[in-house]
Amino acid sequence: MQRIFSGIQPSGVPQLGNYLGALRNWVALQADNECIYCVVDLHAITVWQEPAQLANQTRELAASLIACGIDPKRHILFHQSAVPAHARLAWIFNCVARLGWLNRMTQFKDKAGKDRENVSAGLYVYPNLMAADIHAYHATHVPVGDDQKQHLELANDIAQKFNHDYGVEFFPRIEPLILGVATRVMSLRDGTKKMSKSDPSEQSRINLTDDADTIAQKIRRAKTDPEPLPSEVAGLEGRPEARNLVGIYAALADTDLDGALREHGGKGFGAFKEVLSELLVAKLAPIASETRRLLADPGSVDAVLRDGAARAAAIADPIVAEAERLVGFLKA
Ligand code: AMP
Ligand code: TRP
Repeated sequence: MQRIFSGIQPSGVPQLGNYLGALRNWVALQADNECIYCVVDLHAITVWQEPAQLANQTRELAASLIACGIDPKRHILFHQSAVPAHARLAWIFNCVARLGWLNRMTQFKDKAGKDRENVSAGLYVYPNLMAADIHAYHATHVPVGDDQKQHLELANDIAQKFNHDYGVEFFPRIEPLILGVATRVMSLRDGTKKMSKSDPSEQSRINLTDDADTIAQKIRRAKTDPEPLPSEVAGLEGRPEARNLVGIYAALADTDLDGALREHGGKGFGAFKEVLSELLVAKLAPIASETRRLLADPGSVDAVLRDGAARAAAIADPIVAEAERLVGFLKA
Protein backbone atom coordinates (compact mmCIF):
# COMPACT_ATOMS: atom_id res chain seq x y z
CA MET A 1 0.00 0.00 0.00
CA GLN A 2 1.40 3.37 -1.02
CA ARG A 3 0.47 6.74 0.38
CA ILE A 4 -0.72 9.00 -2.45
CA PHE A 5 -1.03 12.79 -2.20
CA SER A 6 -2.28 15.23 -4.81
CA GLY A 7 -3.77 18.71 -5.00
CA ILE A 8 -5.88 20.91 -7.24
CA GLN A 9 -6.45 24.68 -7.05
CA PRO A 10 -9.91 26.15 -6.45
CA SER A 11 -9.19 28.93 -8.93
CA GLY A 12 -12.20 28.17 -11.14
CA VAL A 13 -14.28 25.29 -12.43
CA PRO A 14 -12.27 22.11 -13.12
CA GLN A 15 -11.74 21.44 -16.83
CA LEU A 16 -11.16 18.46 -19.07
CA GLY A 17 -7.35 18.68 -18.67
CA ASN A 18 -7.72 18.37 -14.89
CA TYR A 19 -9.96 15.37 -15.42
CA LEU A 20 -7.80 13.47 -17.91
CA GLY A 21 -4.41 14.54 -16.55
CA ALA A 22 -5.24 14.10 -12.88
CA LEU A 23 -8.72 13.43 -11.47
CA ARG A 24 -9.45 10.25 -13.40
CA ASN A 25 -6.20 8.79 -12.11
CA TRP A 26 -6.94 9.97 -8.56
CA VAL A 27 -10.16 7.96 -8.67
CA ALA A 28 -8.49 4.82 -10.06
CA LEU A 29 -5.66 4.92 -7.51
CA GLN A 30 -8.15 4.62 -4.64
CA ALA A 31 -8.58 0.91 -5.36
CA ASP A 32 -5.29 -0.13 -3.77
CA ASN A 33 -3.64 2.86 -2.11
CA GLU A 34 -4.14 5.21 0.81
CA CYS A 35 -5.11 8.49 -0.89
CA ILE A 36 -5.03 12.07 0.42
CA TYR A 37 -6.54 14.68 -1.92
CA CYS A 38 -6.40 18.38 -1.21
CA VAL A 39 -8.16 21.47 -2.56
CA VAL A 40 -5.21 23.88 -2.42
CA ASP A 41 -6.67 27.28 -1.55
CA LEU A 42 -3.31 28.59 -0.27
CA HIS A 43 -1.91 27.98 -3.75
CA ALA A 44 -4.91 29.69 -5.36
CA ILE A 45 -4.23 33.09 -3.73
CA THR A 46 -0.77 33.29 -5.32
CA VAL A 47 -2.83 35.12 -7.96
CA TRP A 48 -5.80 37.34 -7.07
CA GLN A 49 -9.00 35.54 -6.03
CA GLU A 50 -12.23 37.37 -5.21
CA PRO A 51 -12.75 36.75 -1.47
CA ALA A 52 -16.50 36.40 -1.99
CA GLN A 53 -15.90 33.61 -4.51
CA LEU A 54 -12.97 31.65 -3.11
CA ALA A 55 -14.93 29.82 -0.41
CA ASN A 56 -17.65 28.88 -2.93
CA GLN A 57 -15.08 27.70 -5.44
CA THR A 58 -13.46 25.55 -2.77
CA ARG A 59 -16.79 23.93 -1.91
CA GLU A 60 -17.77 23.51 -5.57
CA LEU A 61 -14.46 21.90 -6.43
CA ALA A 62 -14.82 19.48 -3.51
CA ALA A 63 -18.30 18.57 -4.80
CA SER A 64 -16.88 17.98 -8.31
CA LEU A 65 -14.19 15.70 -6.91
CA ILE A 66 -16.78 13.63 -5.05
CA ALA A 67 -18.92 13.54 -8.22
CA CYS A 68 -15.90 12.25 -10.19
CA GLY A 69 -15.67 9.34 -7.76
CA ILE A 70 -13.37 10.44 -4.94
CA ASP A 71 -14.50 8.54 -1.84
CA PRO A 72 -14.07 10.82 1.18
CA LYS A 73 -14.96 8.06 3.65
CA ARG A 74 -12.30 5.52 2.69
CA HIS A 75 -9.75 8.20 1.72
CA ILE A 76 -9.14 11.82 2.75
CA LEU A 77 -10.52 14.92 1.00
CA PHE A 78 -9.92 18.33 2.59
CA HIS A 79 -8.89 21.93 1.91
CA GLN A 80 -5.37 23.13 2.54
CA SER A 81 -6.12 26.23 4.67
CA ALA A 82 -7.84 24.01 7.27
CA VAL A 83 -4.55 22.23 8.10
CA PRO A 84 -1.86 24.68 9.34
CA ALA A 85 0.90 22.04 9.03
CA HIS A 86 1.18 22.89 5.29
CA ALA A 87 2.13 26.52 5.92
CA ARG A 88 4.48 25.61 8.79
CA LEU A 89 6.48 23.15 6.69
CA ALA A 90 6.38 25.48 3.67
CA TRP A 91 8.22 28.11 5.72
CA ILE A 92 10.98 25.65 6.58
CA PHE A 93 11.20 24.67 2.89
CA ASN A 94 11.41 28.36 1.89
CA CYS A 95 14.64 28.33 3.90
CA VAL A 96 15.91 25.05 2.36
CA ALA A 97 15.20 25.70 -1.35
CA ARG A 98 17.74 27.85 -3.21
CA LEU A 99 16.81 30.87 -5.34
CA GLY A 100 18.66 29.30 -8.25
CA TRP A 101 16.34 26.30 -8.13
CA LEU A 102 13.21 28.44 -8.16
CA ASN A 103 14.57 30.56 -11.01
CA ARG A 104 14.43 27.49 -13.25
CA MET A 105 10.69 26.83 -12.77
CA THR A 106 8.99 27.12 -16.14
CA GLN A 107 5.48 27.48 -14.66
CA PHE A 108 6.60 30.62 -12.80
CA LYS A 109 8.09 32.05 -15.99
CA ASP A 110 4.86 31.30 -17.90
CA LYS A 111 2.58 32.74 -15.23
CA ALA A 112 4.70 35.78 -14.45
CA GLY A 113 5.27 36.58 -18.13
CA LYS A 114 6.65 40.05 -18.72
CA ASP A 115 5.21 41.40 -15.47
CA ARG A 116 7.81 39.70 -13.25
CA GLU A 117 8.35 42.66 -10.92
CA ASN A 118 4.67 42.81 -10.12
CA VAL A 119 3.61 39.22 -9.35
CA SER A 120 3.23 38.04 -5.74
CA ALA A 121 6.16 36.59 -3.80
CA GLY A 122 3.80 33.66 -3.15
CA LEU A 123 3.76 32.78 -6.84
CA TYR A 124 7.54 32.49 -6.72
CA VAL A 125 7.69 30.19 -3.67
CA TYR A 126 4.62 28.22 -4.77
CA PRO A 127 6.68 25.06 -5.50
CA ASN A 128 8.02 25.07 -1.92
CA LEU A 129 4.46 24.99 -0.59
CA MET A 130 3.65 22.17 -3.00
CA ALA A 131 6.67 20.21 -1.69
CA ALA A 132 5.41 20.81 1.86
CA ASP A 133 1.93 19.52 0.93
CA ILE A 134 3.40 16.18 -0.07
CA HIS A 135 6.17 15.80 2.51
CA ALA A 136 3.91 16.75 5.44
CA TYR A 137 2.31 13.32 4.95
CA HIS A 138 5.44 11.35 4.02
CA ALA A 139 3.54 10.56 0.82
CA THR A 140 5.57 8.69 -1.82
CA HIS A 141 3.45 8.81 -4.99
CA VAL A 142 1.93 11.90 -6.61
CA PRO A 143 -0.51 11.68 -9.54
CA VAL A 144 -0.37 14.88 -11.63
CA GLY A 145 -0.51 16.10 -15.22
CA ASP A 146 2.73 16.43 -17.14
CA ASP A 147 2.97 20.20 -16.39
CA GLN A 148 3.75 19.48 -12.71
CA LYS A 149 6.74 17.18 -13.27
CA GLN A 150 9.33 19.90 -12.71
CA HIS A 151 7.75 20.87 -9.39
CA LEU A 152 8.00 17.28 -8.18
CA GLU A 153 11.69 17.14 -9.09
CA LEU A 154 12.14 20.27 -6.98
CA ALA A 155 10.23 18.61 -4.11
CA ASN A 156 12.79 15.79 -4.24
CA ASP A 157 15.70 18.25 -4.27
CA ILE A 158 14.27 20.01 -1.21
CA ALA A 159 13.79 16.72 0.68
CA GLN A 160 17.30 15.62 -0.16
CA LYS A 161 18.84 18.90 0.97
CA PHE A 162 16.79 18.87 4.20
CA ASN A 163 17.91 15.30 4.94
CA HIS A 164 21.52 16.18 4.14
CA ASP A 165 21.65 19.48 6.08
CA TYR A 166 20.08 18.00 9.21
CA GLY A 167 21.85 14.63 8.91
CA VAL A 168 18.69 12.52 8.80
CA GLU A 169 16.73 10.25 6.47
CA PHE A 170 13.44 11.94 7.28
CA PHE A 171 11.66 12.81 4.04
CA PRO A 172 11.28 9.96 1.51
CA ARG A 173 11.78 10.24 -2.26
CA ILE A 174 8.59 10.84 -4.18
CA GLU A 175 7.57 9.41 -7.54
CA PRO A 176 5.41 11.33 -10.01
CA LEU A 177 2.56 9.27 -11.46
CA ILE A 178 1.91 10.73 -14.90
CA LEU A 179 -0.63 8.31 -16.29
CA GLY A 180 -2.81 7.93 -19.37
CA VAL A 181 -2.78 9.07 -23.02
CA ALA A 182 -3.75 12.68 -22.35
CA THR A 183 -1.28 13.86 -19.71
CA ARG A 184 -1.29 17.36 -21.24
CA VAL A 185 -4.61 18.41 -22.77
CA MET A 186 -4.25 21.50 -24.97
CA SER A 187 -6.52 24.52 -25.49
CA LEU A 188 -9.33 24.06 -28.03
CA ARG A 189 -8.37 27.44 -29.56
CA ASP A 190 -4.59 26.90 -29.75
CA GLY A 191 -3.02 23.44 -29.83
CA THR A 192 0.28 24.74 -28.47
CA LYS A 193 -1.15 26.13 -25.18
CA LYS A 194 -2.33 23.92 -22.32
CA MET A 195 -6.00 23.87 -21.45
CA SER A 196 -6.43 25.84 -18.22
CA LYS A 197 -9.26 26.91 -15.92
CA SER A 198 -7.75 30.38 -15.81
CA ASP A 199 -7.66 30.96 -19.59
CA PRO A 200 -9.82 34.06 -20.27
CA SER A 201 -11.50 32.30 -23.23
CA GLU A 202 -14.39 29.98 -22.23
CA GLN A 203 -14.16 28.47 -25.72
CA SER A 204 -10.64 27.21 -24.97
CA ARG A 205 -11.82 24.54 -22.54
CA ILE A 206 -14.52 22.03 -21.63
CA ASN A 207 -15.62 22.53 -18.01
CA LEU A 208 -16.74 19.61 -15.87
CA THR A 209 -19.96 21.60 -15.33
CA ASP A 210 -20.79 22.15 -19.05
CA ASP A 211 -24.11 20.80 -20.29
CA ALA A 212 -24.46 18.69 -23.45
CA ASP A 213 -25.21 21.62 -25.78
CA THR A 214 -22.27 23.65 -24.52
CA ILE A 215 -19.89 20.71 -24.98
CA ALA A 216 -21.12 20.07 -28.53
CA GLN A 217 -20.86 23.76 -29.42
CA LYS A 218 -17.29 24.10 -28.05
CA ILE A 219 -16.12 21.00 -29.92
CA ARG A 220 -17.80 22.17 -33.15
CA ARG A 221 -15.90 25.47 -32.86
CA ALA A 222 -12.59 23.89 -31.81
CA LYS A 223 -9.71 24.89 -34.05
CA THR A 224 -8.63 22.22 -36.59
CA ASP A 225 -6.90 22.06 -39.94
CA PRO A 226 -8.51 21.27 -43.32
CA GLU A 227 -7.01 17.77 -43.76
CA PRO A 228 -8.92 14.61 -42.81
CA LEU A 229 -7.62 12.50 -39.89
CA PRO A 230 -4.52 10.45 -40.78
CA SER A 231 -4.64 6.68 -40.34
CA GLU A 232 -1.31 6.55 -38.48
CA VAL A 233 0.18 8.46 -35.55
CA ALA A 234 3.05 9.82 -37.70
CA GLY A 235 0.43 11.76 -39.68
CA LEU A 236 -0.33 13.89 -36.58
CA GLU A 237 3.17 15.40 -36.74
CA GLY A 238 2.94 19.21 -36.97
CA ARG A 239 -0.84 19.12 -36.41
CA PRO A 240 -1.18 20.04 -32.71
CA GLU A 241 -4.95 20.64 -32.80
CA ALA A 242 -5.65 17.32 -34.53
CA ARG A 243 -3.35 15.53 -32.12
CA ASN A 244 -5.10 17.08 -29.14
CA LEU A 245 -8.61 16.06 -30.25
CA VAL A 246 -7.48 12.53 -31.09
CA GLY A 247 -5.72 12.34 -27.69
CA ILE A 248 -8.87 13.44 -25.86
CA TYR A 249 -10.90 10.85 -27.76
CA ALA A 250 -8.37 8.10 -27.06
CA ALA A 251 -8.26 8.87 -23.32
CA LEU A 252 -12.06 8.85 -23.00
CA ALA A 253 -12.47 5.71 -25.12
CA ASP A 254 -9.76 3.91 -23.10
CA THR A 255 -7.59 3.32 -26.14
CA ASP A 256 -4.39 4.94 -27.48
CA LEU A 257 -3.67 7.23 -30.45
CA ASP A 258 -3.15 4.20 -32.73
CA GLY A 259 -6.44 2.67 -31.66
CA ALA A 260 -8.32 5.95 -32.15
CA LEU A 261 -6.85 6.41 -35.65
CA ARG A 262 -7.56 2.79 -36.63
CA GLU A 263 -11.18 3.54 -35.81
CA HIS A 264 -11.50 7.06 -37.26
CA GLY A 265 -8.56 7.62 -39.68
CA GLY A 266 -9.74 9.09 -43.00
CA LYS A 267 -12.75 10.86 -41.45
CA GLY A 268 -13.14 14.63 -41.85
CA PHE A 269 -13.27 16.75 -38.70
CA GLY A 270 -17.02 17.34 -39.06
CA ALA A 271 -17.76 13.65 -38.54
CA PHE A 272 -15.01 13.07 -35.98
CA LYS A 273 -16.12 16.03 -33.86
CA GLU A 274 -19.61 14.55 -33.65
CA VAL A 275 -18.30 11.23 -32.30
CA LEU A 276 -16.04 13.10 -29.91
CA SER A 277 -18.78 15.29 -28.46
CA GLU A 278 -21.07 12.30 -27.96
CA LEU A 279 -18.35 10.55 -26.01
CA LEU A 280 -17.59 13.69 -23.95
CA VAL A 281 -21.25 14.15 -23.09
CA ALA A 282 -21.60 10.48 -22.09
CA LYS A 283 -18.61 10.72 -19.73
CA LEU A 284 -19.01 14.26 -18.33
CA ALA A 285 -22.76 14.91 -18.09
CA PRO A 286 -23.22 12.50 -15.16
CA ILE A 287 -20.41 14.28 -13.27
CA ALA A 288 -22.05 17.68 -13.80
CA SER A 289 -25.44 16.50 -12.60
CA GLU A 290 -24.01 14.73 -9.54
CA THR A 291 -22.06 17.91 -8.66
CA ARG A 292 -25.28 19.95 -8.82
CA ARG A 293 -27.07 17.41 -6.64
CA LEU A 294 -24.33 17.57 -3.98
CA LEU A 295 -24.29 21.37 -4.00
CA ALA A 296 -28.01 21.50 -3.26
CA ASP A 297 -26.88 20.76 0.33
CA PRO A 298 -23.72 22.87 0.77
CA GLY A 299 -23.56 22.07 4.50
CA SER A 300 -23.00 18.39 3.77
CA VAL A 301 -20.04 19.16 1.48
CA ASP A 302 -18.55 21.41 4.19
CA ALA A 303 -18.98 18.61 6.72
CA VAL A 304 -17.04 16.23 4.45
CA LEU A 305 -14.18 18.76 4.22
CA ARG A 306 -14.16 19.36 7.99
CA ASP A 307 -13.93 15.65 8.69
CA GLY A 308 -11.18 15.27 6.06
CA ALA A 309 -9.19 18.15 7.57
CA ALA A 310 -9.28 16.58 11.05
CA ARG A 311 -8.01 13.25 9.67
CA ALA A 312 -5.37 14.99 7.53
CA ALA A 313 -4.11 17.01 10.51
CA ALA A 314 -3.81 13.84 12.59
CA ILE A 315 -1.25 12.55 10.04
CA ALA A 316 0.57 15.80 9.21
CA ASP A 317 0.89 17.39 12.68
CA PRO A 318 3.32 14.85 14.18
CA ILE A 319 5.43 14.75 10.99
CA VAL A 320 5.74 18.53 10.82
CA ALA A 321 6.37 18.75 14.59
CA GLU A 322 9.28 16.34 14.11
CA ALA A 323 10.65 18.42 11.21
CA GLU A 324 10.50 21.50 13.47
CA ARG A 325 12.35 19.62 16.20
CA LEU A 326 15.04 18.57 13.70
CA VAL A 327 15.48 22.21 12.67
CA GLY A 328 16.00 23.12 16.32
CA PHE A 329 12.81 24.92 17.26
CA LEU A 330 12.21 24.94 21.01
CA LYS A 331 9.44 22.48 21.84
CA ALA A 332 8.65 23.72 25.34
P1 AMP B 1 -4.51 22.93 -11.41
O1 AMP B 1 -5.75 23.16 -12.19
O2 AMP B 1 -3.38 23.74 -11.94
O3 AMP B 1 -4.70 23.02 -9.94
O4 AMP B 1 -4.08 21.43 -11.71
C1 AMP B 1 -4.62 20.30 -11.04
C2 AMP B 1 -4.13 19.02 -11.72
O5 AMP B 1 -4.60 18.95 -13.06
C3 AMP B 1 -2.61 18.91 -11.81
O6 AMP B 1 -2.24 17.55 -11.61
C4 AMP B 1 -2.30 19.29 -13.23
O7 AMP B 1 -1.13 18.68 -13.72
C5 AMP B 1 -3.52 18.76 -13.95
N1 AMP B 1 -3.78 19.55 -15.18
C6 AMP B 1 -4.15 20.86 -15.24
N2 AMP B 1 -4.30 21.26 -16.52
C7 AMP B 1 -4.01 20.17 -17.30
C8 AMP B 1 -4.00 19.93 -18.72
N3 AMP B 1 -4.31 20.89 -19.59
N4 AMP B 1 -3.66 18.69 -19.15
C9 AMP B 1 -3.35 17.69 -18.25
N5 AMP B 1 -3.34 17.86 -16.92
C10 AMP B 1 -3.68 19.07 -16.43
N1 TRP C 1 0.59 22.84 -8.21
C1 TRP C 1 -0.44 21.90 -8.57
C2 TRP C 1 -1.13 22.40 -9.84
O1 TRP C 1 -1.29 23.56 -10.08
C3 TRP C 1 -1.45 21.71 -7.48
C4 TRP C 1 -0.82 21.15 -6.25
C5 TRP C 1 -0.57 21.83 -5.09
C6 TRP C 1 -0.34 19.83 -6.06
N2 TRP C 1 0.01 21.00 -4.19
C7 TRP C 1 0.18 19.77 -4.74
C8 TRP C 1 -0.29 18.70 -6.87
C9 TRP C 1 0.77 18.62 -4.23
C10 TRP C 1 0.29 17.54 -6.34
C11 TRP C 1 0.81 17.51 -5.05
O2 TRP C 1 -1.55 21.62 -10.59
